[in-house]
Amino acid sequence: MDKMDKVVSLCKRKGFIFQSSGIYGGINGCWDFGPLGVELKWNLKKDWWYTFVQLREDMVGLDASIITHPQVWVASGHVENFHDMLVDCKSCKKRFRADQLETETCPDCGGEFTEPRAFNSMLRTRLGVSDDTAVETYLRPETCQSIFVDFKEVYSSVRVKLPFGIAQIGKSFRNEVNPRNFIFRSREFEQMEIEYFCREEEEEAVFASWQEAIWQWYLSIGLKEQHMRWYEHPKESLAHYSKRTVDVEYEFPFGWGELQGLANRGTFDLTQHSKHSGKDLRFFDPEKNERLTPTVIEPSAGVDRTILALLCEAYDEEEVEGETRVVMRFAPRMAPIKAGVFPLVKKGGLAEVARELEQKLRRRFTTVYDDSGAIGRRYRRQDEIGTPYCVCVDFETLENQTVTIRDRDTMEQVRLPMDEVADYIGKRVSIERD
Ligand code: GAP
Repeated sequence: MDKMDKVVSLCKRKGFIFQSSGIYGGINGCWDFGPLGVELKWNLKKDWWYTFVQLREDMVGLDASIITHPQVWVASGHVENFHDMLVDCKSCKKRFRADQLETETCPDCGGEFTEPRAFNSMLRTRLGVSDDTAVETYLRPETCQSIFVDFKEVYSSVRVKLPFGIAQIGKSFRNEVNPRNFIFRSREFEQMEIEYFCREEEEEAVFASWQEAIWQWYLSIGLKEQHMRWYEHPKESLAHYSKRTVDVEYEFPFGWGELQGLANRGTFDLTQHSKHSGKDLRFFDPEKNERLTPTVIEPSAGVDRTILALLCEAYDEEEVEGETRVVMRFAPRMAPIKAGVFPLVKKGGLAEVARELEQKLRRRFTTVYDDSGAIGRRYRRQDEIGTPYCVCVDFETLENQTVTIRDRDTMEQVRLPMDEVADYIGKRVSIERD
């Protein structure tokens, strides 16, 4: 099995991620996050929000609706430009993206292709029940447009000065022709986007500072520098709104893939929405007594792709005492479960003490209690889901109120007074920075 297959299999087996609607045969490009996956996802989103919104005075947040007025997507250019060129095989009727084909005939049956046709990638939906008043609109293909649409509402409700940014985390939808590589390219996914508004003369410095900030963040959540690189988009292939785009790419087991784009969108979006809505979306700077349309620098990251990178980076196997130990080496603050608490054996009052300790720790971070099977197997179960610490209550605990704490990566154990365990683990798994 190659590494990707092992990661996918572990995700299903351990309840990180499985196919959506599996009992009905699944649905292409949609995924469900199970009990551990949802914890991992929360940890990631919390950390991003904490780092880029709560720790910074120049950032505020937004949580806008997924369904918007259809004009939003006319103004943004998505109705006109957000499409793939597709061809159909005249023999087997299969559909392909023209830009991804390497041959002039169908790779499956050798048949001839139709002429390429444009296919818009937005998911349509119908809002309202009456035939007269219902409107056709779209599920948003990116979260950022509501940041531009709400720009004035936001900046006039909080006291902000240029430069400042608005951040949003939320679902986006795209009718991808070829969803593939597990959750890498899906039809429903989440984005973490920042639109950072600045003066045009600051654009290069702001761009460079975001490059540094996002790179450092990926390192801080556990991605290794040797698995990351920058890709600069050539001028001729930039998206319709972009003056410059660089991507952070990660080396997945299936090859390099985009994790996050960093784009200079200039004044494109605010100008378009001003034009289409008839509303003045310029920023008023009271200090300079000036109205201006700010330049926008956009770091735009995918939650699901980052999750996939964390899973691939964490997956490890090693030989321990003649057996293969599978261990997910998540950064402790990303790990879905922070501590496993075990009694060495169920008898002799150990189970009760371990239970009580686990209930106490649970108030500070995610924990599991486990008393089934040999202690070695219980450690392995936690290694496989990436739990960084395992606490064991043994007979010595009854004598002097100390427990052992085992480190997932080194497998070394330290003995500590029971009432220091919460702080010992708490400070190692917390997202807070000093
Ligand atoms: N607002 C700019 C924008 O949406 P993008 O490069 O199309 O730019 C940004 O998307 C990020 O969203 C990507 O870097 C990727 O992480 C994520 N993303 C985009 N399409 C995706 C898909 N089909 N499945 C999973 N993630 C996707």
